[in-house]
Amino acid sequence: MKKFITFEGGEGTGKSTQAKLLFSSIKNTSETVILTREPGGTKIAEEIRKIIVKNNFNLNRLSEFLLIYAARNEHLKDTIIPSLDKGHMVICDRFLDSTFVYQVQGKRIDKKIFRYFNNLIIKDYKPEITFIIDIDPKIGIERSLKLKKKETKYEKLSLSFHEKIRKDFISLSKKDERFKLIDGNKSITEIHKEIIMIINEKKIMETLKTIQI
Ligand code: TMP
Repeated sequence: MKKFITFEGGEGTGKSTQAKLLFSSIKNTSETVILTREPGGTKIAEEIRKIIVKNNFNLNRLSEFLLIYAARNEHLKDTIIPSLDKGHMVICDRFLDSTFVYQVQGKRIDKKIFRYFNNLIIKDYKPEITFIIDIDPKIGIERSLKLKKKETKYEKLSLSFHEKIRKDFISLSKKDERFKLIDGNKSITEIHKEIIMIINEKKIMETLKTIQI
């Protein structure tokens, strides 16, 4: 079993906070764990990210998609695959499901192109568990804009775009057992405990304890 856990959701759902907390919990065990993110996660992929998320950059939607996969290819070959192959745990803040929801469902990139690139680049390195954190986009975007100064390209898209993103993440969560839909309105501690419980149920590693927040 590949110890690959991803966090997904719209803007400002608290997924990055939860990814960090989970990382801290796992670091206290005998497990070797890395925390990474997409787009990004390696030097080159982080450079590509700057183009993808740059404000006021009129990036064509297909170019955006191709850049996401260029970054993902770098990230997989240099970080994710070598770590998973060594039996280490990988926690990733966003991965292929963001591409499905934002680019395929949101920006109408052909599903066939998406599948083609997944077969080419991701192959069998799909996540074992994917936490989708759900929150009203009105709350999420406000939260996200407070935290971010520069990377606000997506936050500036219309509320209806974000409402569709939310709806699409919820319907995606029903399509496969690997998805765990989490109510992002709960407190940080409650969500963290819920995540730990789910990981313990899956038995992909030694029993985890929640950390003090
Ligand atoms: P972040 O704010 O969670 O770091 O993500 C940066 C933005 O990148 C986010 O607004 C969504 C977008 N994104 C996509 O559109 N497609 C993708 O495949 C990924 C990984 C991110």
